[in-house]
Amino acid sequence: MPKDVIIACDFASRQQTLEFLDSFEGRRKPFVKIGMELFYAEGPDIVRELRRRGHPVFLDLKLHDIPNTVKKAMRVLSGLDVQMCNVHAAGTVEMMRAALEGLTREDGSRPLLIAVTQLTSTSEERMQKELLIGAGMGETIVKYAQNAREAGLDGVVCSPLEAAMVKDACGADFLTVTPGIRFADAAKDDQVRITTPARAREIGSDYIVVGRPVTAAPDPVAAYERCLKEFLNQ
Ligand code: C5P
Repeated sequence: MPKDVIIACDFASRQQTLEFLDSFEGRRKPFVKIGMELFYAEGPDIVRELRRRGHPVFLDLKLHDIPNTVKKAMRVLSGLDVQMCNVHAAGTVEMMRAALEGLTREDGSRPLLIAVTQLTSTSEERMQKELLIGAGMGETIVKYAQNAREAGLDGVVCSPLEAAMVKDACGADFLTVTPGIRFADAAKDDQVRITTPARAREIGSDYIVVGRPVTAAPDPVAAYERCLKEFLNQ
């Protein structure tokens, strides 16, 4: 099973992103995550540029629409040569199946496809009161992960603290991609359910997504290398 550290490139522009990544010149090219902000600002060209520079890319656009629309949108994304993309599991098993179909190229190859279960910004109380989901958070996350597995997806995004539960329910080969990573000696920022890279490895995360602990570090390359060392135990 591949394990890696993914840097969340939560920058507003191409210029900021490329300046940040320039500091990794001559070293291991980090796996990077491009989210809605950067993609909406710069369009697919930023993805092509990062691929051209040799970075593996997780395109974090969290698609959620009717199955036919998601299938067609995924067909477009399949042409971008990214390594990973995602949808909301709340779109149903049918929508996730359509996403997978759209993403699969004529030769049968495709990027990894993972599902968002419940956003970590959603509390159990809001989920129950506003979304009228009566089950608890843990049960909901496991069910959504099982739906993703049933649809043929490769894994889910979840909190590192939920990774073990997802693995128990869906199997060791079902990927867990986990944000909410902080060094033991650092600030939590706005994240609540957090853990360290080393602990995420012990719990069974396959990919950790790290933003500010690397992007806002005085020495981002050193911070990234610390993540690799702790997470991959190298
Ligand atoms: O800066 P930080 O390490 O908190 O960044 C985490 C990244 O992971 C951000 O891009 C955030 O949007 C993303 N994310 C998250 N929680 C989720 C899903 C995605 O923090 N449940």
